[in-house]
Amino acid sequence: MASGRFEARKRIVFFSGLAILLPTLVASAQTADQAWLREPSRLVLFGKVIAFGNSPIEQTAVQELSRSIQHPASVKGGFSQFALRAWREGSLTVIGTAEEVRKAYPNVPVPSGLAPGEYWIWWNGFDEHSFSVIAGGDERGALYGVFALRRLPLSGESFPRTDLSNFHAHPLRSRPAMPIRWTDEWDNANGTVERGYGGRSIFFEGGKVRDDLSAVGEYARLLASVGINGCNVNNVNGAAPFLSTEMLQGLARVANTMRPWGVRLAISVDIASPQKIGGLKTFDPLDPAVQAWWKAKVDEIYAAIPDFAGFTVKADSEGQAGPASYGRSPADAANLLAHALAPHGGVVLYRAFVYNNHLDYNDLKADRARAAYDIFHPLDGKFAPNVVVQIKYGPIDFQAREPVSPLFAGLEKTSSAMEVQITQEYTGQQRHLVYLAPMWKEMLDFDLRAQNRGPHGQVFVRGVEQNRATTVKEIIAGKTFHRSLGGMIGVSCVGRDGWLGSPLAMANLYAFGRLAWDPNLSAERIAQEWTRQTIGTDPQVVATVTKMLMQSWPAYEHYTGFLGSQTLTDITGSHYGPNIESSERNGWGQWHRDDAQGIGMDRSVATGTGFAGQYPPAVAKMYETAATTPDNLLLFFHHVPYTYKLHSGETVIQYIYDSHYQGAEEAARLVDEWESLKGKLDPQLYNDVLARLEYQAGHAIVWRDAIVQYFLKESGIPDARDRAGHYPGRLEAELARLNGYKIIAITPWEDASGGMAVGCDASAAPNGCTAAWTYTGPAGHFNIAAQYFDLQPGTAHFTLSVNNQMVATWAADALLPSRRPNGDNATRLTARGPDGHGIELKPGDVLLVKGTSDANDPAALDYIEIEPAAPAR
Ligand code: GCU
Repeated sequence: MASGRFEARKRIVFFSGLAILLPTLVASAQTADQAWLREPSRLVLFGKVIAFGNSPIEQTAVQELSRSIQHPASVKGGFSQFALRAWREGSLTVIGTAEEVRKAYPNVPVPSGLAPGEYWIWWNGFDEHSFSVIAGGDERGALYGVFALRRLPLSGESFPRTDLSNFHAHPLRSRPAMPIRWTDEWDNANGTVERGYGGRSIFFEGGKVRDDLSAVGEYARLLASVGINGCNVNNVNGAAPFLSTEMLQGLARVANTMRPWGVRLAISVDIASPQKIGGLKTFDPLDPAVQAWWKAKVDEIYAAIPDFAGFTVKADSEGQAGPASYGRSPADAANLLAHALAPHGGVVLYRAFVYNNHLDYNDLKADRARAAYDIFHPLDGKFAPNVVVQIKYGPIDFQAREPVSPLFAGLEKTSSAMEVQITQEYTGQQRHLVYLAPMWKEMLDFDLRAQNRGPHGQVFVRGVEQNRATTVKEIIAGKTFHRSLGGMIGVSCVGRDGWLGSPLAMANLYAFGRLAWDPNLSAERIAQEWTRQTIGTDPQVVATVTKMLMQSWPAYEHYTGFLGSQTLTDITGSHYGPNIESSERNGWGQWHRDDAQGIGMDRSVATGTGFAGQYPPAVAKMYETAATTPDNLLLFFHHVPYTYKLHSGETVIQYIYDSHYQGAEEAARLVDEWESLKGKLDPQLYNDVLARLEYQAGHAIVWRDAIVQYFLKESGIPDARDRAGHYPGRLEAELARLNGYKIIAITPWEDASGGMAVGCDASAAPNGCTAAWTYTGPAGHFNIAAQYFDLQPGTAHFTLSVNNQMVATWAADALLPSRRPNGDNATRLTARGPDGHGIELKPGDVLLVKGTSDANDPAALDYIEIEPAAPAR
C-alpha cells in the first residue's frame, strides 16, 4: 500500500473457525468528487446557462453549474421538490458580476454594494420561461453563488427555501464574513508534507513543481466550493528555495491551475532569503540592499503571477531565521515585505508563533504562553496596513484544549487572522476521528471583552455600561477594531491519498471553509451539511454521522489531556501517542508541572507567570483564580493539588480517572454508532471507516491506561471506582510462559501495561516466539483482545490460539509513528469469535500468542485481555 496511507485497518473475520484478514481500501484517484462534491446537485435548472464575461472564473461558474445541476431531460419520474416548475426551453440563467448584470438587465433589481465574494441569486418567471440571475460582488462572488445553489438542496434548508421561484421575493444573498480565507499547506519541495497525514504533496516532487497538476485543480475546486480564496502552498519552515526563478515559474503554473476557481496563490518565505539565495551578506530588514532585493523579487513574482496573494512568514521561531538577528522587530520584517507587496495588492501574513524554545523549566515565571502577546502587543500600530498578524487560536500550539490567545484583543491597530489546524497534528493525525469545528467555534465565539476596560471589566459611556461583545470572530472579521483585513487560515496539509488520508477527516476541511465564510454557523449544522453531501441523505445516516462527529472532539479530549493540561503526547517526537513527561523538564515550554502533590501551571498575575493578565480585565479576572476558572482550563491557569475539588464536586485526580474511562467508552461507542449504519452506506466506505474507528477505540484504551496508571503512581491516590491499576481480565505478556520471547522495558513506562512487554528477536528465534497462559476464569464466551506494538516499516505476524486451535491471525503492517515500541504504535486487536458471539473458554484452557518478528518489527506484545463478549456485532 502507498506510504502515508492509514493502514491499521484490518478486521478479523471468523469463518468456519478460521480467521481471515480483510484489508480494506481507500480510493486512490484524487478528485474533488471524492469529497463533498461527489453527488450532482438535486437542483433542476432549465434552458441555457451563460456568463456575461469571458473571465476564467465566470467560465468556471458556468461549467460548474452545468455539471452540477440536473438537466430536466435527465430527471426521471417527475421533478423533485427542488425542481423549478416546468418552465420551457428558452429559460435562461445568467452569471456575472453585479455590474455586468446591471448593465445588461437594468430592470433586474440587483442591489448596490455587493461586497467582494458576496452573491445574490434572484429568479423571475415570465411567459412560462424562467430567468435566474447569479450575481456576484465580483467574479468570485458569482462562482460562490453557483456553489451555494448546488449545496442548497442538501443544506438542510426546508422546502420552499429550496424552490428557486421563491428567490423572486427573497433573493438568496450571502457575503463572506472576512476577506482572508486561506489554507496553508506545509509542503516541501521534495514532495513530503510536514504534519501531513494524507500522502505526498499534490504540488511538489523532486525539488520542483509537479508536471501533473490535475490534483491541484481538483483541490482548488474543493476550496472554492466552500469559499476559500487563497492557498499558501509551501511549508513555513525552510522556505528559501521557493523564491528561485525556476521555482517561481513552476509556481506560476500552480497559480494558473487554481485561478479559474478564484483561489489565489500565496507562498511562505524565509526572511533570510536575500542572504540564503540572493547572494547578499545580510538580510537586515532595514538595509537598503535587502529592501531592493525584496522589491525586485516581488516584481518578478507579479510578472509571472499577476494575482499573487502574498507571503506568509515564520521568523525567529523554532530555528527559522528572523529580524532578531539584527536587533530588529517583527514589524520591521513584516513591513519590509509589505512595502514590496503593496503596489501589487499583496499582503503579508506574519505569524505570531514566535517564542523561545530554550526556556528554563526551573524558572516558575518562564512561560511560553506569554510570548506572542509580549512580542506583538507592543508593536501594535507599527505594522503597515497590508500586514495581517496570523495568530494560532491558543497561546501554545494547536492543543486539544487551550484558552483563546489574548493577542486577538491585544492588536487594535493591526489586522489579525486566526490560524487553526485542519490537519490533526495533535488531535489524532487523522487516524482518530476528531471533528474540530466545535473547538473552533468555542474559539470564534469567545468574548474577549476587549472594549470593556472599567475596573471590573466594564466600560461606562456617559454613565451607561457598555456591554458590546468583542468575540474573536468579530475581531478577526475586522469589525471590532475597524480593520479592512483579517480572516481565518486553516493549516490543511492535504496530500495525494484521499486529500486528508481519511474520509471523515474531510469534514474538518469543509467546516473550516464554511466557518471562515460564516462563523455564526453551528458546528452541528455544518456536520449535517457535510454528511448529506458526502455520506448520504438518509435521515438516520445524517443523524448518526452528525452525532459521531459532534462527540468526537470531547471524546478525544477525555481520553488524552484533561482540565486544560494540553494533549499529553510525545511533544518532542511524534505528537501522537501518550508520553506525559516529554513535555516536562525541557525548553519547549509545553509544561504541565506535575509532581506527587499536584499538577498545573500557575499563570496567575498574583503568584504565577502573569499570563492571565494579558487578557482584557474581565477575562483576566476570570482566569486569575482557580475558583473562577472554568474546569476545562483549570490546569492551564493554576497549579492545584490532586485533591482539589472542581466545580463539579469531583477531585482532580478522580476526574483524571473518570474522564479517561469515559473517553475510551465514547470512542468505543463511535464504533457501535457506525455499525448501526451497516447496509445504508457504500460498503467500501463503511468497511474503511469501521476499521479506523476500531483502531481508534483500541488506541483510546492505550491513552486511557497510560494516563491513568501514570497519575495513579504519581499521586498515590486510588481510583474511588477501583478501575485504575486493576485489570481483572488482563494477562500480562511478561508474566506468561515464554518461549523465545524476552521481557523488555517500554519507554515511556506508562505506554505499556505495568511498563513491561515482551519482544521476539528474529535472529534468535526465526520461527517465532510464544507466550502462553492458562485460563483460570469462569467458563463462557469471551472476546480476546491482544495488545501489541506495530512497528514500521517491518511486518510481524501473530496468531492467537486456544488449546492449539487458532482463533485469530493478523499481520502488524501498519505505518504508525516511532520505530521503538511505545504508545505511538501500541495497537489493539480484538478477536470476537465466529459471528462475533465470542470465543468459548473454560478453566484450564491454554491461550497462546505466537509472534513472528522480522528485522524491523520484534512482534512485541504487551498483554492479552479477556473481555465479556458483546452482543453479536
Ligand atoms: C508545530 C509543528 C511544526 C510547525 C509549527 C508551526 O510546532 O509541530 O511542525 O512547524 O507548529 O506552526 O510553525
